[in-house]
Order: sequence, then structure tokens, then C-alpha cells
Amino acid sequence: MTGIKRVGVVGCGLMGSGIAQVAAVAGFDTVVRDVSQPLLDRGRAGILKSLGRMVDKGTITSDARDASLARLRFVTELTELKDRDIIVEAVTEDLDLKNGIWRELDRACPPETMFASNTSSLTIGSMAGATLRPDRFVGLHFFNPVPMMPLVEVIRTETTSEETFERAYSFARALGKEPVAATDSPGFIVNLLLVPFLLDAARARERGTASTADIDRAMQLGCGHPMGPLSLMDYIGLDTVVRIADIMVEAYGEDRYDAPALLRRMVTAGHHGRKTGKGFYDYSADPPVPADPPVPTPSMSEKA
Ligand code: 3HC
Repeated sequence: MTGIKRVGVVGCGLMGSGIAQVAAVAGFDTVVRDVSQPLLDRGRAGILKSLGRMVDKGTITSDARDASLARLRFVTELTELKDRDIIVEAVTEDLDLKNGIWRELDRACPPETMFASNTSSLTIGSMAGATLRPDRFVGLHFFNPVPMMPLVEVIRTETTSEETFERAYSFARALGKEPVAATDSPGFIVNLLLVPFLLDAARARERGTASTADIDRAMQLGCGHPMGPLSLMDYIGLDTVVRIADIMVEAYGEDRYDAPALLRRMVTAGHHGRKTGKGFYDYSADPPVPADPPVPTPSMSEKA
């Protein structure tokens, strides 16, 4: 038994809204916080769309959808999470931003509240150390799209207590996910292996190894991947991929984590993938069509 009934989620973007959705569907009283109403409205619209697909598919009934929505509350104040049993943070990969949030929550919440970060590349220890509850701090790393991907990486630090780890692991199961345990090193298991692969795909495109469509098709048909790597980067967000790569190259000092210039140019040009309508593909067409990557210009900074 996890003893968890009330769930808080910080951040209502792609990941946060997905985590809030699976928590509510799994029967948890869930409060999700973001900084503004428009961001909450966008997250809520994504949840409605996803739940709609599940109803259409028969994965859940329309009654279950309505009950899930009734368990979900959207707020703009962090302090509204103070009565939660567990708080999962899913904001931008920025340590100062995350630790500012954790310090405020540490002051607002009773000592028994468990804290979990969904960081994809920072260490959990670098956040746990900013709070007075490093023994009740874990990593819970979900995958996009959260309602569809079964995996959750559960990360313990040197200071995470056995009880906290066990509760977090059981909580992941209670959300209907398959947990795996990982130690606290940047990228954990999946991103450690996935990020260099994605960056290599961008390098292959940059080098002209093949067209965008053929690189993706090759990995789908040759290796059975559900999505090609360039599509997947558009799905995750090219800005997010570059941010994760920058954190990992700093952590490991290895060139394979260094985002290629093409990817940085795309981010600088505002082509962040699906969420901005353009990345390796142009999403204004249905189905999306490969987009011409931006060419370097003397005035264009290579750094995102
Ligand atoms: N909510 C509910 N249902 C959804 C959904 C969502 N958000 N997204 C897709 N679905 C459902 C669809 O309704 C459809 O159902 P059906 O097969 O019964 O009709 C089914 O999933 C398949 O969807 P589509 O036909 O639209 O498209 P695909 O067959 O390509 O599946 C996908 C979509 C599940 C996203 C699949 O392409 C996939 O698994 N892609 C790989 C995703 C991946 O690798 N994620 C990990 C990213 S890394 C990460 O997140 C870590 C982070 O730290 C960066």
C-alpha cells in the first residue's frame, strides 16, 4: 500500500498534463498547477482530446472519463498543493526553476509529503539537496505520450529512504505503469541510450545520408520502431532534445551527447517540432510532410 490518495502535479505541459491524466484515470484526487490560466486551458484541452480517443477506442467508458475529469483540478498557486500526499514536478529542464519550486513546496507542505521529479536529464540529488526532505525525494520519469507509454523509471538517490522508494515504485504500478529502478545519473536508462541515437539521426540528416522521410522509414521498417527518430524528436520537441543534450554533454563530457548545428539552427529558427507546427516535418499539412531544414546564414547563431 502506498498510502497515497491525493496527487499534485507541477506543470501542465505535455508531460505534466499526461501525468495528471493518468493519475485521475487511476482514481487519484489530482491537482495540477501551472503559472497561468491559458497554459492550464491548453493542458486541459490535451487531456480532453486524449480521453476522447480512449473513449472512442473503448479503453475507458464515457462515465469513467467524466469521473476522471471530476477528480482533476487546475490551479495557478503552488500552495494549493500543500495537502497532497505526493507531488510530481514536470516543468522545463532548468535546475534553478525546479529548485525554486521545490523550496517553496518544502516550506508549504507537511514533512510527510513525498516529492518526485519527472526530470529527463538532471540528477534527482541536485533537487533533493535543495529541500529539507532528501529522504522523501525520488525521480519518477514518464514517457511521452504519457497515457500510452507503459514505462516509468523510478530513481533513488543516495539519500532516498527505502520506504520512499518502495512507495514511489508501488505508486507507479497504481498508475497502471511498469516501473523500472534506475540510479541517479543524468539520462537514467532511456535517455542515456535514446538521446545519442536521436542526435545521430539529426547528424545523418545534416550530412545528407538520406532524406528525412527515408531516415525515419528506415528505422521503422528496418528496426521495428513505432516512429522514426526525426518524427520522434519533433514529437518530444526539438528545444527539449537540445536542452537534454546540453545537460548530458556537460555531465558526461562526451561528443555523442553534443547536439549538431542543424538541430540548434532549427531551434533558433523557432522550429521546435509538432508544438510549433514545424520541425523536421511541416504539420500544417495532413499528413505532415518533410520540411526543408533551415540553411546556415552568417548572422544566425549556432547556439540555441
Ligand atoms: N492519448 C490517448 N490515446 C493515444 C494517444 C494519447 N496521447 N496517442 C496515441 N493514442 C492512441 C491512438 O488513439 C491509437 O489508437 P488505435 O491504435 O487503437 O487507433 C494508438 O494510440 C496509435 O496512435 P496513432 O495511430 O495516432 O499513431 P501511432 O500508431 O504512431 O502511435 C504512438 C502513436 C503511441 C505515440 C507511437 O507512435 C509510439 O509509441 N511512438 C514512440 C513514442 C516514444 O518513443 N516515446 C518516448 C519518447 S522519449 C521520452 O518521452 C523521454 C523524455 O524524457 C524526452
